[in-house]
Amino acid sequence: MENKKPAVLVLGSSNIDIVVRVDKLPRAGETVLGGERREYRGGKGANQALASARAGAEVRFVTMLGDDPGGDAYGLYLVESGLSPDGILRCKASTGTALILVDGKGENQIAVARGANAFLTPGRMRRRAGLLDFVDVVLAQLEVPFPSVMAAFEKGRRRGACNVLNPAPAAGELPDELLRLTDVLAPNETEAAHLAGLVKTPETDEEFLRAAHALRDMGLSRVVITAGAKGAFLLDEERAAWMRPPAGIQVVDTTGAGDAFCGALAVKLAECAPFQEAVRFAVSAGSCSVGKRGAQGGLPSRRRILKNQRQVRRKQIRVG
Ligand code: RIB
Repeated sequence: MENKKPAVLVLGSSNIDIVVRVDKLPRAGETVLGGERREYRGGKGANQALASARAGAEVRFVTMLGDDPGGDAYGLYLVESGLSPDGILRCKASTGTALILVDGKGENQIAVARGANAFLTPGRMRRRAGLLDFVDVVLAQLEVPFPSVMAAFEKGRRRGACNVLNPAPAAGELPDELLRLTDVLAPNETEAAHLAGLVKTPETDEEFLRAAHALRDMGLSRVVITAGAKGAFLLDEERAAWMRPPAGIQVVDTTGAGDAFCGALAVKLAECAPFQEAVRFAVSAGSCSVGKRGAQGGLPSRRRILKNQRQVRRKQIRVG
């Protein structure tokens, strides 16, 4: 029998990441001196699309590049990396840019100029017939316009796909229509606090449980909150649990770790794996990704994720 790869449609941004390493991230109003300026390819959408492809999926990446040399080079690179050209659109704008500071511990601060990403509209997507016809999972973030995410999720729902939303960057409340179309919500701890209306980011198990419950109460059946070196906290109809990354991971750059997580999560969900197993695989991918510079530099292969996931530890949390 033919061994068919799971199909993941990723809708999202492509950015050129301009990165400066600093000893310490600046506070508001502070100027700090940094190292060399480096350029990498990034954007939450592209990072997640490549993460899914490396983790074993057939990926259609729907994105908008500018009509500039950066856009030409990025388009070529995506195709050379094994993504189909079908979803790569172009418009008269500059390709998205992200300004990123990374400190000595690998933590970052990011500001994004969306550029062409802001022109990935439903109208432009409709011009390419069948663009969104791709099951088994639709994965999106919020660096592209809301209506396009809605359009992709509506199509996904009609075709029986699982819709996964990584609500990053946090941008106000999520519209109810979008929540109704979301099957799995995967925020980081800051985004989770923001969406759940909490005054501070969760730290203790009780606070994570409260945040995850608040998100589930918004009508979502499965929630997973990523929490950097702590791993990921999941809540579904049956259980709450932590998946902890392996100990002793060498951290060089955490930029894109959440994207490696989401891309891998989508692959396992597309394979119809149980939620806990999908989160274990995703935590493994996220922890593998932090060992190299740049958002896409450390994206792991499926083989590496599977090897590393043996050391991901589960901690069950009592619900209620
Ligand atoms: O999640 C990391 C990504 O966020 C970077 O690659 C940057 O482009 C921003 O989109």
